[in-house]
Amino acid sequence: MLLPLSNASSSPEPQIKKPKSPPDFRRNDSFKSPKAFLAAHYPSFNQPRICLFLSIFFIQILLLVAFRSLPLSLHHRRQHFPFPLSTRHHQHVNQTVTTIATAPSIVKEEGSCEFGKIFVYELPSALNKELVSNCDELNPWSSSCAALSNDGFGPVATGISSVVPENLSPAWYWTDQFVTEILVHNRILNHKCRTQDPNNATAFYIPFYAGLAVGKFLFFNNSSAKERDFHCEMMLKWVQDQPYFQRNDGWDHFMTMGRISWDFRRSKDKDWGSSCIYKQGMRNITRLLIERNPWDYFDVGVPYPTGFHPRRDDDVVQWQDFVRNRNRKNLFCFAGAKRSKMKNDFRGLLLNHCRNASDSCRAVDCAGSKCSNGTSLILETFLDSAFCLQPRGDSFTRRSIFDCMIAGSIPVLFWKRSAYYQYEWFLPGEPEIYSVFIDRNEVKNGTTSIRKVLESYSEDKIERMREKVIEYIPKFVYARPQGGLETIKDAFDVAMDGVLRRFKEQGQPGYRW
Ligand SMILES: *[C@@H]1O[C@H](CO)[C@@H](O)[C@H](O)[C@H]1NC(C)=O
Ligand SMILES: *[C@@H]1O[C@H](CO)[C@@H](O)[C@H](O)[C@H]1NC(C)=O
Ligand SMILES: *[C@@H]1O[C@H](CO)[C@@H](O)[C@H](O)[C@H]1NC(C)=O
Ligand SMILES: *[C@@H]1O[C@H](CO)[C@@H](O)[C@H](O)[C@H]1NC(C)=O
Ligand SMILES: *[C@@H]1O[C@H](CO)[C@@H](O)[C@H](O)[C@H]1NC(C)=O
Ligand SMILES: *[C@@H]1O[C@H](CO)[C@@H](O)[C@H](O)[C@H]1NC(C)=O
Ligand SMILES: *[C@@H]1O[C@H](CO)[C@@H](O)[C@H](O)[C@H]1NC(C)=O
Ligand SMILES: *[C@@H]1O[C@H](CO)[C@@H](O)[C@H](O)[C@H]1NC(C)=O
Repeated sequence: MLLPLSNASSSPEPQIKKPKSPPDFRRNDSFKSPKAFLAAHYPSFNQPRICLFLSIFFIQILLLVAFRSLPLSLHHRRQHFPFPLSTRHHQHVNQTVTTIATAPSIVKEEGSCEFGKIFVYELPSALNKELVSNCDELNPWSSSCAALSNDGFGPVATGISSVVPENLSPAWYWTDQFVTEILVHNRILNHKCRTQDPNNATAFYIPFYAGLAVGKFLFFNNSSAKERDFHCEMMLKWVQDQPYFQRNDGWDHFMTMGRISWDFRRSKDKDWGSSCIYKQGMRNITRLLIERNPWDYFDVGVPYPTGFHPRRDDDVVQWQDFVRNRNRKNLFCFAGAKRSKMKNDFRGLLLNHCRNASDSCRAVDCAGSKCSNGTSLILETFLDSAFCLQPRGDSFTRRSIFDCMIAGSIPVLFWKRSAYYQYEWFLPGEPEIYSVFIDRNEVKNGTTSIRKVLESYSEDKIERMREKVIEYIPKFVYARPQGGLETIKDAFDVAMDGVLRRFKEQGQPGYRW
C-alpha cells in the first residue's frame, strides 16, 4: 500500500509505502531536539553563536512539524505491492518485521553474479573526490581531514589495546559515523560484480558524496537553500543526461547517502537540511542511508559504521570468540548524555534508572563531548554488560546500537523505529531473538522497572540471545580491505546483494510504478 504524503509541499513527494501496522512513529515526536542532535553529532556546537542560530532553527522545526503532521491522505497509488522475491522484506506483518531469509555470516559463493553486475559512474570529481580533498572545509568548526583519513576509516584507534585482544587492536579505528559514502565507493570499485561495460550492468552506482556535500551547510546559520542543494542538483543534472538513466527511469540506479534520511528531506527553503530526496530525478533511485524513512520504499537502512574493521575472516572469528567468552559483570548499561534543555528527556530518565540500579547497571555519562571522539570506555562498558539500553538518539537511530551489538551486548530498545524498521537486511527478522523491547511509557510512568524486566531473563535465554547477536556481527562491520574479506560477507556485501536482488525483482513485468 502506497501513501503519498498529502502535505502542501510543492516538491514532488516520493512514493511512500506504509507498513501494514504503523511503526510507533509520530511526526510531532520525530525531531524534537535538533539542538540535541547537533550536540551528539557535532560536539563543538556548544558555542553561543550556534545557540542563537539554534533557537531560530528550533522554531523552524516546530513550524515544520506542525506543518508535516497533517493527516496522511489515503490516496492509494497502488493497492497491490508485489514482493516477488525474498518473501516479505519491507512488509510489516502484525508487528513482526521480516527480513530476507539469509543465514547471517553467509559464505560468499564463487563469482557467479547471478543477480547481475554493477556499473559505477565516473562522476565529476566535484561530487566526490574534491569534497574529500577539501576536508578542511567540510564542517564549520574544525577540519574533517583526520576523520576521513585512512580511506574514510579514520585514525587508528590508539589506547584501545588494553580493551581488545592485542593482535586485533590494529583492526580498530576512530571511525566517524558519516563516512559510508566513502567506504561504499571504495569497495564497489573492487566488487567482483563490477562491470566496465554499462550494457552488461543491471545496477548503476552513483558515487555522489551527498552527506559530505551538505554537512557544513546544515550548520551555517546563513546557508541558503540553494547552497544546500547545489551538489545534489549538479549530480541529478549529470545523471539524468546519461542514456542508461533514461533507459529504466532510474529504477536500476542507486547511491549511498551517508547521513540520516531527514537531512535530505527539506520541504521549505528555510527548513533543515537539503531537499535532495525530494528532487524530481530522485524518485526512483534506491538510497542506502544510516537511517531510513520507514515509509519510503526507496530508502534502505544500512548499519552505521563502527570502529571495528576486520582485515580478514580470522579477525571476525577471533572477535566473535572474544565477545562470546567475555565475563560480563553488569546486567545492563547505558552510555549517553541527557538533554537538560528537554522536558521529559527519556535519556535523562534512563541515566537515573541506571544510577539507581548501580549494583547491576553501569552508566557512562557522555555529557559534553566526552564520548564523541572515540573512547575505549564505551566499548569496555558494552563488553562488560549483558544488555545495553538504547533509547532513540536525537533522531530515531543511533550508532551506539551497533557499538553495543559489536561488543556482544544485547540491545534494549524503546522505539521500534530505532532498529526493527530500519535494517531489515542486516538484523534477524524476529526482534525478540536478539533484543528486548520495553514500552517507554511504562518506564515513564513507573509501572515497569527495566531492571526487573531484564532480571526476568534466564542465563540460558540471555546466552541464546547473545549468540544471535554474535552470529550477526559480520553483517554490522565494514571490512578494511577494499576487496572485502575472504569468505565472510560484511555489511557492504549484504547491502550489494540486497540491492542486486531488489533490482532483479523490480525488473519483472508490471513491478515498477
Ligand atoms: C549568524 O550568526 C552570526 C553570529 O555567529 C550572526 O551575527 C548573524 O546575524 C547570523 N545570521 C543569520 C542569518 O541569522
Ligand atoms: C501474526 O501472524 C502470525 C502468522 O502470520 C500469526 O500466527 C499470529 O497469531 C499473528 N499475531 C498477531 C498478534 O496477530
Ligand atoms: C557484455 O555486453 C556485450 C554487448 O554489449 C555482449 O556482447 C557481451 O557478451 C556481454 N558480456 C557479458 C559477460 O555478459
Ligand atoms: C556564512 O558564514 C560563514 C562563516 O560563518 C562564511 O564563511 C560564509 O561565507 C557565509 N556565507 C554567506 C552566503 O554569507
Ligand atoms: C519513475 O518511474 C516511473 C515508472 O517507471 C516513471 O513513470 C517516472 O517518470 C519515473 N520518475 C523519474 C523522476 O524518473
Ligand atoms: C532513584 O532513586 C531516588 C532515591 O532513591 C528516587 O527518588 C528516584 O525516584 C529514583 N529514580 C528512578 C528513576 O527510579
Ligand atoms: C578526545 O578529545 C579530547 C579533547 O577534545 C582529548 O583530550 C582526548 O585525548 C581525545 N581522545 C582521544 C581518544 O582521541
Ligand atoms: C502506564 O503506561 C502504560 C502504557 O502507556 C499504561 O498502559 C498504563 O495504564 C499506565 N499506568 C499508569 C498507572 O499510569
